[in-house]
Amino acid sequence: MAQLPILEFPDPRLRTKAVPVEAARLADPSFQQLFDDMFETMYEAPGIGLAASQIDVHQRFMVIDVTEDKIRPLVFVNPEITARQGEQVYQEGCLSVPNIFADVTRSDMITVQALDRHGQPFTLEVDGVLAVCVQHEMDHLDGKLFVDYLSPLKREMVRKKLAKARKQANAA
Ligand code: NI
Repeated sequence: MAQLPILEFPDPRLRTKAVPVEAARLADPSFQQLFDDMFETMYEAPGIGLAASQIDVHQRFMVIDVTEDKIRPLVFVNPEITARQGEQVYQEGCLSVPNIFADVTRSDMITVQALDRHGQPFTLEVDGVLAVCVQHEMDHLDGKLFVDYLSPLKREMVRKKLAKARKQANAA
């Protein structure tokens, strides 16, 4: 397994709209390796979700595990939200926007349909942080970031803060 480099805001590649995965390609061992590498990268970061877009692969899949003990790794290929209910506000972060956290309003409960890592279709009804995470990662597949929900002024502050942090890291 290997850790993968994660693109960071405001990298324009994060704005790419990902294309659907051909299910037959999931049988390819390199695809399975990629899922494993994404989990490793996500757990090491540490984070609870990682979309393919963030590792510069612009196809519609993402990995998620919101458990503390890494006991529920989920792969979503070609995810679609088929139902939504209610609203919740959650303080989100993102591996592509390091050390920045902000409240975002999203659907409280969702039904999501996807293929698993072996191409088997499944449907999940989720709420709470898992619902937030699914919606957040699906945004990535459409080239959208959680900072897009902030005001332009706040987003610009985030951009400057990250630029400064990178400069300091490079100087160190
Ligand atoms: Ni993210």
